[in-house]
Amino acid sequence: MNSSRTGKDLYKQLRALPWARLWTEEVGRFDGAGARERFERVAVIRAVGVVFAESGPAGQAEEVKGWLRGLLRDPEEKVRRYAMAALPKIGAGAGEEAELLALLRQTTSAREEQALGRTLDKIGGEATLATLATLATGGGIAPRTEQRVKASVARRASPSTVRLEAELGDFDRLRLHLRGRRGLEGLVREEVEEQGKFRVVEVQRGLVVIAPLGPFTLAEVFALRCFDTVGFSLGLVKGAGGGESVEGLAEVIASPLAERLLATLTEGALRYRLEFIGKGHQRGAVREVADRAYALCPRILNDAREAPWAVDIHATAGGASVELRPRLSPDPRHAYRLDDVPAASHPPLAACLTRLAGHRQDESVWDPFCGSGLELIERTRRGGVRRVYGTDRSAAAIGITERNFAAARLGPVEAHFLCGDFRDFPALAGLAPGSLTLIITNPPLGRRVRIPNLRGLFEDLFAIAARMLAPGGRLVFTNPFRMESPEPTLRLQSRQVVDLGGFDCQVEVYRKAGR
Ligand SMILES: C[S@@+](CC[C@H](N)C(=O)[O-])C[C@H]1O[C@@H](n2cnc3c(N)ncnc32)[C@H](O)[C@@H]1O
Repeated sequence: MNSSRTGKDLYKQLRALPWARLWTEEVGRFDGAGARERFERVAVIRAVGVVFAESGPAGQAEEVKGWLRGLLRDPEEKVRRYAMAALPKIGAGAGEEAELLALLRQTTSAREEQALGRTLDKIGGEATLATLATLATGGGIAPRTEQRVKASVARRASPSTVRLEAELGDFDRLRLHLRGRRGLEGLVREEVEEQGKFRVVEVQRGLVVIAPLGPFTLAEVFALRCFDTVGFSLGLVKGAGGGESVEGLAEVIASPLAERLLATLTEGALRYRLEFIGKGHQRGAVREVADRAYALCPRILNDAREAPWAVDIHATAGGASVELRPRLSPDPRHAYRLDDVPAASHPPLAACLTRLAGHRQDESVWDPFCGSGLELIERTRRGGVRRVYGTDRSAAAIGITERNFAAARLGPVEAHFLCGDFRDFPALAGLAPGSLTLIITNPPLGRRVRIPNLRGLFEDLFAIAARMLAPGGRLVFTNPFRMESPEPTLRLQSRQVVDLGGFDCQVEVYRKAGR
């Protein structure tokens, strides 16, 4: 068996030991061993880091750190590297940082320098930055570690936030990319045009490109509810098949436009996370691009943790579109979502259903499958609602709708949330036929929860809607079946195919005949 295999097997065994045994027996044996045995059993050091982080007693942290600090002075480089890797797991502080920096000044091994960089990335602070400033740049760990440590020092000092109310003037050539589910672009466009702050430049699958008509704020962008994410277009980088150059991407990220946007819209350090959309982690590419961007503009910091911005790389036909996206959590449009149900609606879909329903006065609205209440909340927000009803067969969902609805602070609206099967609604609510003006809903689609006779559920929905809607009332819903209304009084007004997160579904509007 080769030595790396035996090392892995040993680590697996040690990792499974209870902390007390690992510390007393295995660490004791390691400390008492000769150089060769210590070399063969370095896995003990790794196991100490991992097992202590999981189940070690907090009161022993100083003792464990002391042991690892001692190993940083071991004559064997491999032992020192293992100790460096384990230290952040114990919660290393200034003493350990000083020890690591002393080693950094002495070492002549590139491998050890890399390992020191990885540890300092995690635990380094001002002392690390001061030391790095004295080391020769142009190679080695300095720039990468410097960027990471600057970012973590900034993160610890004050978490940066996105300034929603800051005005962006003088950005007339700016393009904003509103992204969302395929099939909803027309509604996004309609909403943008109704607001009148931006003009629509271009519409593609799942993307509406807009340009400001004058000075604007991000708060005004987030007054639009039908899109999912917004990104400022920083530029296009050529390169077919994902082969866009590191240099090209870095230049766009470090551009004066990016810096000006970030400086205007960020409270605190300018930190961003880099994401190659739809391509997984891409750790190597992220590192290369972030290193190069930092070399070009050291005021903008790449930081995977809690960054207020993302730079998203979207593949396009001829290369990549680079976009700067605010990472707002929660999305300010949905701060009312205190809780969720497993099959909750995608919030922009709920807003789009609301647009399709149109705006009328004195509405009585029912969501037969209210879940966490998004459709009812989005419709009530638009005004003109006198009364809402929500039913769901899950009591937990009804409680969640109640809480979310209250958190949305929607003013004086009569609200009734009832636990039960939607077919029993007239009896549960004590309502006469023809009492409702709008039924708006995203029913169970049989994907996450199996529903016996799903088609029958939709037939029953048509039947109950035909009975409970007043003449002129609307039924707006997502329908996974290609079916015509079995109820002659319900007339189809519109139908569009929408991607509901990996599968297509119809979004339909019916109107009850009469009036
Ligand atoms: C897709 S979810 C609704 C999501 C909801 N629009 C939201 O904002 O979270 C469908 C809901 O229908 C409920 N449901 C399923 N069958 C039902 C039935 N026969 N009667 C009433 N509710 C039902 C489920 O409990 C689930 O909460």
